[in-house]
Amino acid sequence: MNSTIKIACIAFAALVCTNTVNAKKPEQGLKDAYKGYFSIGVAVNQRNISDPQQTALILKEFNSITSENDMKPGEIHPGRGVWNFEKADKVANFCREHHIKLRGHNLCWHSQFCNWMFTSPDGTPATKEQVYAELKDHIFTVVNRYKDIVYCWDVVNEAMSDSPTGNPFRDSRMYKLCGHDFIDSCFVWAHQADPKALLFYNDYNASQTHKRDHIYDMVKAMKDKGIPIDGIGMQGHYNVVYGTQNMAEQVDSAITMYSKVVKHIQFTEVDIRANEQMGGQLMFSRDAAPITDEIKAKLTQSYANLFQVLRKHKKVVDVVTFWNLSDKDSWLGTRNYPLLFDENLQPKAAYYAVRDFKKLKK
Ligand code: G3I
Repeated sequence: MNSTIKIACIAFAALVCTNTVNAKKPEQGLKDAYKGYFSIGVAVNQRNISDPQQTALILKEFNSITSENDMKPGEIHPGRGVWNFEKADKVANFCREHHIKLRGHNLCWHSQFCNWMFTSPDGTPATKEQVYAELKDHIFTVVNRYKDIVYCWDVVNEAMSDSPTGNPFRDSRMYKLCGHDFIDSCFVWAHQADPKALLFYNDYNASQTHKRDHIYDMVKAMKDKGIPIDGIGMQGHYNVVYGTQNMAEQVDSAITMYSKVVKHIQFTEVDIRANEQMGGQLMFSRDAAPITDEIKAKLTQSYANLFQVLRKHKKVVDVVTFWNLSDKDSWLGTRNYPLLFDENLQPKAAYYAVRDFKKLKK
């Protein structure tokens, strides 16, 4: 057999072999692409973990799960002596069944809270001591119930003010009654309940310079007092204008600063909305303007910018969680076009920009 034919046969055999291997090799998901960088998480609702198409997508793409609402204080503990574990248990059992680690969200927040705690059993306003007793019981009960599957907790959520001036703490009911001491207490109780869980303070706009500095100062003070806090959760709710302009620089600076006081930083609620309003979430109505190709390109660029910064800080960033599975679930509304999967669960160009970063030119 002459050499030309021999080479052709070898090439054909290699082609067949490659195609066979590729035919059997499943397409990699986000979690596979980011092996060696950080875990990729998703916030789920009950539909996501019961619909076969959605559970298949979750299992392909993610290796961390957060319950969007079902583990929040007001949802799981709606009244004194009244517990509603059913939905949270379904999320926890999904994680146990599929061996996916679960982020606990959350133990104390001004919204969706156990507001009944502020009224004592006799109907009078509760004292700080009475609230502390109820909140400690809440934290011990919830943390102990899920300690086999929960690897970290958002212990306190959004306790800082949005104002660049004045009191750095949010003037919440808890703050009014207890001062900011409640933050320390929640971390102490959570650590007592599960010493192995990583404990996070979680907030939005955590890259904005004034809020960043307030969070840094609070966490440093907690560390100096020996309060068991392990990390800072940066929620990561952005928009396409900020995302294509100065988001990357601010996120980069914030991670660098936070990494001086904590060893763990997690992006806990990532989405990038199409509207330009900060704060007010523009829930696109049916007659809202269509999502243009320009918006789609801005979304892709914003996610590319964000994940480039996150990869740079892979030594301290250990989980990046998307807030909701697809645009259909998003708290921002489908017309804000905020996630990597559209309302039909189809990957956008932004998905490939995030997943296939190794193929992109350096
Ligand atoms: O459970 C009730 C249901 O019984 C009722 O029929 C229905 C209609 O009123 O409301 C349901 O409660 C809703 C809840 O989500 C569960 O679906 C609340 O109205 C609704 O306000 C709540 O919104 C959640 C929001 O937190 C509450 O502030 C969003 O789904 C959730 O994505 C969002 O998530 C927060 C994070 O926990 C913390 N960071 C900010 C982020 C966005 O706000």
